[in-house]
Amino acid sequence: MIRTQRTFPADTTGADLRLSGLCKTFATSTALHDINVTLPQGQFSVLLGPSGCGKSTLLRLIAGLENPTSGKIHLGDARIDQLPPKARNLSMVFQSYALFPHLDVAENILFGLSVRGTPKADRAARLHKVAAMMGLSDLLARKPAALSGGQQQRVALARAVISERPVCLMDEPLSNLDAKLRAEMRVEIRALQQRLGLTMVYVTHDQVEAMTMADRIVVMHAGRIEQVASPRDLYAQPATMFVAGFIGTPPMNLIPRNALPGLDAPANATTIGIRPEDVTPLESGAGPQVTARVMAVEYLGADQLVTLAIEGATLLLRLTGRAGALPATLDLRLPQLALHFFDAAGHRLPSPSDLSHPQAQEHDNDQYA
Ligand SMILES: Nc1ncnc2c1ncn2[C@@H]1O[C@H](COP(=O)(O)OP(=O)(O)O)[C@@H](O)[C@H]1O
Ligand SMILES: [Mg+2]
Repeated sequence: MIRTQRTFPADTTGADLRLSGLCKTFATSTALHDINVTLPQGQFSVLLGPSGCGKSTLLRLIAGLENPTSGKIHLGDARIDQLPPKARNLSMVFQSYALFPHLDVAENILFGLSVRGTPKADRAARLHKVAAMMGLSDLLARKPAALSGGQQQRVALARAVISERPVCLMDEPLSNLDAKLRAEMRVEIRALQQRLGLTMVYVTHDQVEAMTMADRIVVMHAGRIEQVASPRDLYAQPATMFVAGFIGTPPMNLIPRNALPGLDAPANATTIGIRPEDVTPLESGAGPQVTARVMAVEYLGADQLVTLAIEGATLLLRLTGRAGALPATLDLRLPQLALHFFDAAGHRLPSPSDLSHPQAQEHDNDQYA
């Protein structure tokens, strides 16, 4: 990953982006309920959640493209939610790239600077620096129609970068690219954010993008924040059953407690969670906790996913692809340290797995503050 000195002068690096009590109601529905979160300066924050959960609405509130129904947005000490978009000191990259088809690459990249009346010599110097950084130097005279999807994406990024604004907002910027290019651009965008010290707010519904790019993930569901945590903490200690069932490919098994009567669990636990990679098949009858029937095997090369039936539930197990043919039934161990417990409201209870990941306890969960 590219790590060089930050190129912004210190006085333009902005500050934390603080959202407090943000609500947004449209004519017939409420898209956001009481959003409270701080997105730290210089960090890569991802808004993650299923389609319709309010990610784009939240980003548009930050950008000033929509007004909140109530609540405040601060950038450092400055309240920005009443400022027009162009006074907010941020740049935005859209899913559609929003390039002008009749302008060439150079004109597209420079568009915002020209509108703001940046002196011509300054514009030329910045264009050449940014074009070199983004690998666009040989394409400056082309029209967008003569570029590949990945090149168009880079032009859209270059336009955000050249603004030298400390906060960058991106709404599903990679969703029009094929899988290979998406993987490459993930790395490029992350490197760019680190190199420039940008405060990034990046929207995606793709948990792999979120896990690979983010310093901090804000998981959203139905207009509310479910959890704010680093990718590792989110995976190790999902705060709710929604997060447990959303993160991970495939996600955590969530099993009714009464289907696993032999396990040690808190009295108010109604659901027991265990990740597919934590379910361990036993060699031979050494005190199995659960005996399961093999229902289906999906071979994926490095891994194979085994669907198992136990009394009252199904259980997904991830095995290495090298494991041989499986018998019709498997004796399983569900290691106590890998168990997650949830109450009837879907909230995490103190769980044995917390012991193997204690540092997450210290992280701020400022949505609960
Ligand atoms: N301009 C609008 N008018 C009415 N409803 C809207 C508008 N924009 C978004 N919504 C609604 O708000 C909810 C959240 O939408 P959105 O923020 O686009 O979700 P996401 O980006 O997570 O897919 C959805 O139910 C959507 O239909
Ligand atoms: Mg959206």
